[in-house]
Amino acid sequence: MPFRKDFLWGGATAANQCEGGYNLSNRGLANVDVVPHGEDRFAIITGQKKHLAFDDAHFYPAKEAIDMYHHWKEDLALFAEMGFKTYRMSLAWTRIFPNGDEETPNEEGLAFYEAIFLECQRLGIEPLVTITHFDCPIHLIKTYGGWRNRKMIDFYGRLARTIFTRYKGLVKYWLTFNEINMLLHAPFMGAGIVFEAGENRDEVLYHAAHHELLASALATKIAHEIDPENKVGCMLAAGDYYPYDCDPENVFEAQKLNRENLFFIDVQSRGYYPSYKLKELERKNITLPIEAGDLALLREHTVDFISFSYYSSRVARVKSDADKTAGNIFESVANPYLKSSEWGWQIDPKGLRITMNTAYDRYQKPLFVVENGLGAMDHLKQDGTIEDDYRIAYMAAHIAEMKKAVEIDGVDLLGYTSWGCIDLVSAGTGEMSKRYGFIYVDRDDEGHGTLKRIPKKSFYWYQKVIKTNGEDL
Ligand code: BG6
Repeated sequence: MPFRKDFLWGGATAANQCEGGYNLSNRGLANVDVVPHGEDRFAIITGQKKHLAFDDAHFYPAKEAIDMYHHWKEDLALFAEMGFKTYRMSLAWTRIFPNGDEETPNEEGLAFYEAIFLECQRLGIEPLVTITHFDCPIHLIKTYGGWRNRKMIDFYGRLARTIFTRYKGLVKYWLTFNEINMLLHAPFMGAGIVFEAGENRDEVLYHAAHHELLASALATKIAHEIDPENKVGCMLAAGDYYPYDCDPENVFEAQKLNRENLFFIDVQSRGYYPSYKLKELERKNITLPIEAGDLALLREHTVDFISFSYYSSRVARVKSDADKTAGNIFESVANPYLKSSEWGWQIDPKGLRITMNTAYDRYQKPLFVVENGLGAMDHLKQDGTIEDDYRIAYMAAHIAEMKKAVEIDGVDLLGYTSWGCIDLVSAGTGEMSKRYGFIYVDRDDEGHGTLKRIPKKSFYWYQKVIKTNGEDL
């Protein structure tokens, strides 16, 4: 059997994309709440446009999302019915520390997640918790400028200590930052950064990166101190860059772009800044704000496992007039060998095996695929069913390649959580109509609908996959 007996099959969500209840249980406001659906969204999430409060001109899908705040018990029951061994979710920082810099946490927020973890325990589902999934309290952005400020490390450290202490014995698997490399591409989401006029953007980004890397190492340290059973992972928006062809210029370009992403994981997993990045920063005249003790912290508190999202591979070509393709924020040269989803993301199951091998060769630590899936338009039929065969085909093909990575290549893999196991708000577009779930949620892009949950055909398919530990795809 390729997958280990205790393989962690499950699904993944993020608080801001499913929870809603943005003003309940004393919760504060976060960057992710104020990103609207519509044409301003991209400029805001990439830090080009300032938007730190609600206004009447926009619709904010995260305010209610799929209202998991009130439906979590029902949703967990459906996950259990599918046979989930794990459920990846994130905590809303502002539910625990509404402003982010308080000395004491908000008990209502802590109790909310505790109830979820207790229910998981009852159902035999191991929680896999992302500490921050693109969220940063608005107060920290306004007062400190987000992760460009070193003080963020202390606030994050306090959050980490609070949750590791409170949820000891209930949660064992933790991820420090969702898709940490997204910081370079979507800095408002990745680091609460809005650029000021005249700023050296690269400098701001790499200072923020240094602070997040330190915060991640600090959280790893605290997690291990509080409970040696804790396992902490880093999280990468992965998908190897292929060279467009064997032109050495393109091969080198692919290496360069791969390093740009892997740089974060290099630090989190190996414990030091790679020489290629130090040289690049030197050329750009950027000095990292390294203080006494920083390098030791990074070196001594590396992650236990490597987790990543995989939606597609990417293509590197120096010549800039090549056709482009969409993807999660990353723009890439189109691969002529691949088909695309309705949102233009290219579909490459073999790329998952390739990406897994790259990561395992480089780090030699267990891997965890914590996001993968197909964003597609679903159609609710008259008889109330949803036949999402396209999703089944996508996932079966990816799981088959993942299986080869384990069985043939010998990659050590802890588990697989498909993205958006229940339909939720898209991070990139703010749409509901870009659906990833095994469970349909009756809600549209403008926030209308009953929020009713309906299992799709893929629900029963995934149930069988889990039951047979990936044998029957
Ligand atoms: C990843 C994120 O980038 O991709 C998720 O971690 C996101 O939050 C997912 O939802 C899919 O992207 P999108 O834009 O289709 O929601």
